[in-house]
Amino acid sequence: MTFDKFELTGKTALITGAAGLLGLEHGSALLESGSKVVLTDISESALDSARSALSKNFDPKSIITKVMDVSRGSDIRSVADQLSSAGIRIDILVNNAAIDPKVKGDVGILETSRLENFPLEQWELQITVGLTGAFLCSQVFGTAMAQDSKGGVILNIASDLSVFSPDQRLYRKAGLPEHQQPVKPVTYSVIKAGLVGLTRYLATYWADKGVRANALSPGGVYNGQSAEFVQRLTSLIPLGRMANRDEYRSAIQFLCSDASAYLNGQNIVMDGGRCVW
Ligand SMILES: NC(=O)c1ccc[n+]([C@@H]2O[C@H](COP(=O)([O-])OP(=O)(O)OC[C@H]3O[C@@H](n4cnc5c(N)ncnc54)[C@H](O)[C@@H]3O)[C@@H](O)[C@H]2O)c1
Repeated sequence: MTFDKFELTGKTALITGAAGLLGLEHGSALLESGSKVVLTDISESALDSARSALSKNFDPKSIITKVMDVSRGSDIRSVADQLSSAGIRIDILVNNAAIDPKVKGDVGILETSRLENFPLEQWELQITVGLTGAFLCSQVFGTAMAQDSKGGVILNIASDLSVFSPDQRLYRKAGLPEHQQPVKPVTYSVIKAGLVGLTRYLATYWADKGVRANALSPGGVYNGQSAEFVQRLTSLIPLGRMANRDEYRSAIQFLCSDASAYLNGQNIVMDGGRCVW
């Protein structure tokens, strides 16, 4: 049966940044497909809230939480050891964690994001979390997937900004001089394009061991942004709207299951058609 291939019963998926807006949706989607999930993030209380939220609809025994900072190799190895000691094999890795500069309500992306002023510490921090973190998690969990004969799936969460440049006009604020106009930071483009490169590398590296790697590139999710921002952004999207937070769930289920068994090394851009306009 076609839909049997989406079945993830008997599998375990580890999600990084799982307590955030989309991480929770990824967890819910994978639980819905029958997988157990290991939710990882930096805050124990946020993970507790995520577990409580998901336990309303899914068996709490299928939900494990672990504090894990993806920028710390020691954290990742420690979680891998704990899971392995408990007899848990990670079959699916979703590299989702990021330090995300968001447009929220009337608060724009900061003017300190401008390239001319962008602090080296921010460059290093954001790249360490968004890109190095995905490398470190893939190194630890991907190596384990490749070591036995069972293979696995690595899914990197990139962004539509992995395939085009930010349109900085979206973030402009009336009345501010040019040098203070907020912008999407350079790190975002670099991280997301880097994740696509990492995806291609991983897709071939362990292909003979049954480990596939793909990227999912979501477009912007509606999350209470100002009407002005939403209007500007949606005018660039053929479907004429931002995504709802639950609209990537079916893609997660497809990309993490045998339904996509012959898909490898691709970047699936789900952006309402923005990148083709
Ligand atoms: N929301 C969107 O519109 C959108 C659009 C395209 C792509 N994305 C991508 O989707 C992913 C999830 O985005 P989101 O909107 O849920 O963001 P979010 O900020 O709500 O969640 C990100 C999570 O990552 C965690 N995190 C931060 N630093 C970490 C670290 N060092 N180690 C582990 N976890 C860490 C945060 O605590 C947070 O829970 C990101 O990679 C983001 O770039 C989001």
